[in-house]
Amino acid sequence: MPQPSQPTFDVAVVGGGIIGLAVAWRAQQRGLRTVLLERDAQIAQGATHAAAGMLAPVSEANTAERELLALGLESAARYPQFVAELAESSALDPGFLRCGTLVVARDRDEAEALDRERAVRAQLGLDVERLLPSEARRREPGLAPTLRLALDVPDDHAVDPRALALALAAALRAAGGDLRTGAAVQRIDTSAGDSRVSGVTLAGGERIAAEHVVVAAGAWTQQLAGLPGDACVPVRPVKGQILRLRDPAGPGLFTRVLRMDPGYLVPRGDGRYVLGATMEERGYDTDVTAGGVFELLRDASELVPGISELILEELEAGLRPGTPDNAPALGPGALAGLHWAAGHHRNGILLAPVTADLLLASLLGDPLGELAAPFTPTRFGAQAKKGKEVAA
Ligand code: GLY
Repeated sequence: MPQPSQPTFDVAVVGGGIIGLAVAWRAQQRGLRTVLLERDAQIAQGATHAAAGMLAPVSEANTAERELLALGLESAARYPQFVAELAESSALDPGFLRCGTLVVARDRDEAEALDRERAVRAQLGLDVERLLPSEARRREPGLAPTLRLALDVPDDHAVDPRALALALAAALRAAGGDLRTGAAVQRIDTSAGDSRVSGVTLAGGERIAAEHVVVAAGAWTQQLAGLPGDACVPVRPVKGQILRLRDPAGPGLFTRVLRMDPGYLVPRGDGRYVLGATMEERGYDTDVTAGGVFELLRDASELVPGISELILEELEAGLRPGTPDNAPALGPGALAGLHWAAGHHRNGILLAPVTADLLLASLLGDPLGELAAPFTPTRFGAQAKKGKEVAA
């Protein structure tokens, strides 16, 4: 029976996607000795790798999720400072693009729905401008003449999640943090009769002692062993197929994020574009299907006919981490030393800055405040235990 060792680290972060990286960076920056453990050979190969990087709290706003909207708006507001600090700490470009967003309608039904969406945003005091097709096409000439209506959302921008992840990894290392790839966490270790965490054990048997463990394992959260069932957060994978395109003629086909029902097109500003994404409940399946790709390309080329001239560079399916209410679990868990930064579903890239700040507060034992109250990881109660039994 291995003897519990003295904690080598203050914090072990499980998962090297955008959330784990951001949390680890903030923790290490604050002087907590931090190790980040990523199971793949490289960081950010899961949902972060697939993500388009929309920072879209206003475009995605919905009246049923006001707390999530507040969290998203707060995180979007923190983005400029977050990326500026990151660029300085990492000496890399985190890929932030102030591009704004157009939400578009292609037929009468969609136009009526868009007007209802605009009314909702007006009630919420969010900044959107209604554009007739002629004005929308003046702003984005690549849009099809068949366009019926658009909303201009000037403050919903975008970031390149892969560039952001590389910058976070460099900043973490520059701050003195330990980043280990190929380090699959098999279990979270507990002590004192399961009342607190004491570190993690890797798949090869190596034990890493840590005072605090942050679970940021995305769609793989449920596969971590060791925690009592009712201390877990239930997280399921939600598949998204996504394409990457490039214009050999360079940038300019469109300059804003374009959102339609149900997909989106995101410019990188250099002639590369991301087209996403399907929403599928298919477990851990990451196959790219002919039907998925067909539907994405059909819808996008109806909206921007020039899409069909672009080079198709990459096809991918990623797994969003979804909790039962599709909102994240943020902050302290049911055991001492256990913290959750999990279940960000469609919003992981947007919510990275605010998640990192809240988790730092959680690690320091500070209050998380009202913003985080709806996202307490212990809210799932009995569902957590059931989810764990199903996954086992
Ligand atoms: N954030 C967009 C998506 O998950 O498809």
